[in-house]
Amino acid sequence: MLVQEKNSLTEEIEKYVEELGKDRSALLEILHLLQKKHRCIPDFAQQEVARLLDIHPVEVFSVITFYSFLNAEPKGRNIVRVCQTISCDMKGKDNLCNAIEREIGIKFGETSKDNKFTLEYTNCLGLCDQGPAMAVNDRVYTSLTPEKAVEILNGVK
Ligand code: FES
Repeated sequence: MLVQEKNSLTEEIEKYVEELGKDRSALLEILHLLQKKHRCIPDFAQQEVARLLDIHPVEVFSVITFYSFLNAEPKGRNIVRVCQTISCDMKGKDNLCNAIEREIGIKFGETSKDNKFTLEYTNCLGLCDQGPAMAVNDRVYTSLTPEKAVEILNGVK
């Protein structure tokens, strides 16, 4: 069974390499496609990407750790990212985070047991004049109060 899974993952990566090319510049796009489909890029996939692009696995891993939208371990179905940069910090980011942690029942950096939520900090979302800001998956919310944030999260539960 494991061998079968490995083969299908290898085939999938081979297909991406065929479409996007063997060049190093294809790396990020391939990782993005794997992340989208599997919600993470497991160790075996990292090894296969490195092998097929003829680069060192450490290079693949360092790209995954650099970008917050890529991860080696599976995360929750909903990823909540609160901006921790100075403007949002000064506009009440801490109160927001406390309310979110209380509501979801986990700390930032954790994933809920039911895999519904992962809470993370992020750097500036580019909406500093409308802080505090939070992204839930691909959608960004601004000018949040703790109550508003909890209401939004209840909407995605
Ligand atoms: S500082 Fe939070 S969006 Fe820029």
